[in-house]
Amino acid sequence: MGQPLNPDPRALRHALGMFGTGVTIVTARDPAGALVGVTASSFNSVSLDPPLVLWSVARSAWSCQAFTQARHWNVHVLSVDQEALSNRFARQGADKFAGLELEDGMTEAPLLRGCSARFQCRTQFAYDGGDHVILVGEVLGFDRSHHAPLLFVKGGYAIANPRAPDVSTAAEAAVEEELFNENLLGFLLGRAHLLYMNAFRPTFAQHGLSDADFYILSLMSLRQPISQVELAEHLGFTGVDTGGGCLRQLEGRRLVAKDGQGLYTLSGDGLRVIVEALAACKAVQEDLVDRVGAVEVASLRNLLKRVILATDPGLPKVWGQGPQGRPGS
Ligand SMILES: Cc1cc2nc3c(=O)[nH]c(=O)nc-3n(C[C@H](O)[C@H](O)[C@H](O)COP(=O)(O)O)c2cc1C
Repeated sequence: MGQPLNPDPRALRHALGMFGTGVTIVTARDPAGALVGVTASSFNSVSLDPPLVLWSVARSAWSCQAFTQARHWNVHVLSVDQEALSNRFARQGADKFAGLELEDGMTEAPLLRGCSARFQCRTQFAYDGGDHVILVGEVLGFDRSHHAPLLFVKGGYAIANPRAPDVSTAAEAAVEEELFNENLLGFLLGRAHLLYMNAFRPTFAQHGLSDADFYILSLMSLRQPISQVELAEHLGFTGVDTGGGCLRQLEGRRLVAKDGQGLYTLSGDGLRVIVEALAACKAVQEDLVDRVGAVEVASLRNLLKRVILATDPGLPKVWGQGPQGRPGS
């Protein structure tokens, strides 16, 4: 372990990237009154009494001189929805403030909206920091919102979510020792899926829908008319029998109709039933957001999509362009 002095800058950057931070945009006005702003992850707290914070600006930044001359600057802690804004302020030169709604703050420095927290500061000290200048500011005012903060770690953006007890990469080793335990991924995915489905099964039961009926009708709400073969291609991965018997039953109940070419479409009743079933799914989703948190659900969605991409054997795309170039056709 250990890197020699005079380290390879890339290796140093990668090692520093293991230290996760938030992402901020720092804004000010130059002596002529023009707005300046940069994305900065070097922000940190220094002191509570007196209230002091710091960040460092690269000497190579176009706005470096403006910041070192400015008496005031504002630090905006970005929210998970402000990744595009972070990228915009990390690009040199462009009119970074174009189209942004600004607020008047306590000083001449501009205030951005939609952030997780904001700190309005007066420059207290400026220190030489090698290829950066370290600016320490006294906090004159601050506010915070309910927006979850955006993070930056290992060179990329990330979402924070509180750690569940007993979750670690070491759990994999435990799985090898005991064949079956509560950290086995199949168990967690399966149990979560089944418990989640149980929450809207009463609605399925009201309409006499089996899981297979639900899979077929929800797919048809996206793609129709559809043939039995195409249905099987899409739904084979579910392992449930969505074959002719199931379709004949749905046809018998007048939830789907078959045309002369053997293609199926939803009937008016079929559409009503699936809309109600999908509304029940939405309600369960909203309940989960309330219990677990919007950021956690966004993070779960992100991970599930990655798991699906990593395990998908090449299924046809349900939400992509249809064969005739019509969305979902
Ligand atoms: C996540 C992230 C964090 C950054 N942190 C800093 C920082 O702390 N200090 C800095 O000077 N530049 C930082 N940068 C780079 C600047 O945002 C970038 O160089 C910007 O173009 C400087 O603006 P300017 O040259 O128009 O003044 C960061 C960029 C990103 C994407």
